[in-house]
Amino acid sequence: MLKLGFLASHTGSNMQAIIDACQAGTLAAEPRVVISNNSQSGALARTRQANIAAYHLSERTHGTALGAAILAAMQRHEVEVICLAGYMKKLGTEVLTAYEGRILNIHPALLPKFGGQGMYGMRVHEAVLAAGERESGATVHLVDEEYDQGRVLVQEKVPVKAEDTPETLQKRVLAAEHRLYAATLARIAAGEIPIPLPRSRA
Ligand code: GAR
Repeated sequence: MLKLGFLASHTGSNMQAIIDACQAGTLAAEPRVVISNNSQSGALARTRQANIAAYHLSERTHGTALGAAILAAMQRHEVEVICLAGYMKKLGTEVLTAYEGRILNIHPALLPKFGGQGMYGMRVHEAVLAAGERESGATVHLVDEEYDQGRVLVQEKVPVKAEDTPETLQKRVLAAEHRLYAATLARIAAGEIPIPLPRSRA
């Protein structure tokens, strides 16, 4: 079982889709801990319901010790792969170094297009429509120091329709995100997408 840790800031629907896949047995993984910078996030509420360890850790609660606190929580729960799921903060070097190559993010567009600082959530879909794109999609990629720059692992394309609003496009892309994130983790758990897992698993 691949041990997963989550970082989420808002609704947590991607995290939920992954938890659901674990419970359904379509993903050989175990959600161990969820950390949110937002004490009111849907992600934390969902986690408490699912009986998974949950922490509110933010710059406000931990200041400059935030990176170390996130890393300590991930390690305490023996997390092997960290999933960013709508996490709107940059990760500190402590976590990036300890989990290099084992931190994933989902982005609601076909990177490298429509990524980078300030490109998140509905802003991405507004930009895709403003650019007149005919297709958009979801991207699962590795996380490094820069926003949305890490190596792309998988993408799923989604058509853009002439009558789309940012909201209708978001809905279609989010459905793809939910499929893609859990399916990608299943391929990682099965060894089909190689990432540097801890030696104890090799
Ligand atoms: C998702 O659409 C995710 O791709 C996006 O935030 C949303 C979170 O939804 N992330 C980014 O834009 C990162 N740049 P969720 O909380 O319901 O999973």
